[in-house]
Amino acid sequence: MNAKLSLPDEALRRYVQQLPKAELHVHIEGTLEPELMFELAQRNHITLPYPSVDTLREAYQFDSLQSFLDLYYAGAGVLLTEQDFYDMAMAYMHRAHADGVVHTEIMFDPQTHTTRGVAIETVLAGLARALREARKTLNISSYLLMSFLRHLSEEDAFQTLDAALPLRETYRDLWIGIGLDSAERDNPPEKFARVYARCKALGFKLVAHAGEEGPAEYVRTALDTLGVARIDHGVRSSDDQAVLQDLIERRTPLTVCPLSNLKLCVVDDLSQHNLAKLLRQGVMITINSDDPAYFGGYILDNYMASAQALHLSHDELTTLAGNSLQASFLPQADKTRLLNLLAQAASQAR
Ligand code: ADE
Ligand code: ZN
Repeated sequence: MNAKLSLPDEALRRYVQQLPKAELHVHIEGTLEPELMFELAQRNHITLPYPSVDTLREAYQFDSLQSFLDLYYAGAGVLLTEQDFYDMAMAYMHRAHADGVVHTEIMFDPQTHTTRGVAIETVLAGLARALREARKTLNISSYLLMSFLRHLSEEDAFQTLDAALPLRETYRDLWIGIGLDSAERDNPPEKFARVYARCKALGFKLVAHAGEEGPAEYVRTALDTLGVARIDHGVRSSDDQAVLQDLIERRTPLTVCPLSNLKLCVVDDLSQHNLAKLLRQGVMITINSDDPAYFGGYILDNYMASAQALHLSHDELTTLAGNSLQASFLPQADKTRLLNLLAQAASQAR
């Protein structure tokens, strides 16, 4: 994506790259690049239904969330061992580091793996080894958000929670929260009201996808029934003035993923994306990558594509980076330290 940038855009890209920022909406399974997918398929003696990396990448043409999810779940089928999960997560951490990310909150979908016979212990062990190593070698802190697949039942979510809870102590430094993802239409947040109530009682931080393809009403129930602290996507919130007003008053962050919205036809064109308008109305907008291996760009590409399409100023881009730090689940002392670093980086680079 950066190859197409003109000179002033290259300077803007350098400016955004050096801003310390957090990525708050990324699915680790969505960071599995075709090259690594082929490598893992070979290592695990799995035959992919594509002859090459290029033909696989060419298949990444989506007309809806579901058309993407079909390929995404199939792609995750190459992940079998602890080393596979480590390799995928480590590759993402290097990409995030190159983009100036200093903290990540990463979603993982255990049900995608346990239904294939891969133990949740294997998934967590591989992810945790990469994230702990990246904390030391790349100076990036991370949290994990265990996400329930909303096309499955609440009963299945409870079973997943029960299988994961014995591991909580081992991963207390990482696993701090719960998310809700997969096919949004006809799977409203309230379907998971009881399991979210249990997770809240257990002290987990709560987020949920809402208002991506689904209506603003789902944002309302994610906020009021599930009690989430952040909304993943939430771009349809602007359809309901009362929901919008609540987001502004409560300072509830939206983790927006512009290139995802474009690739999944949530918007026809990035110039029509409402993130700049929402930001200017006072919504706590953050920019994230969602599933970068499938949507053609990591977090910096998402900032740059938005900057170009929506004419975001340097100050707005700095505000977006600051929002990502504020909206994270980091302790206040860490947020303050990173926000000071951000202020320094912004002023030195101007
Ligand atoms: N899982 C991975 N990416 C997703 C998205 N954009 N929406 C819902 N579920 C997802
Ligand atoms: Zn997502």
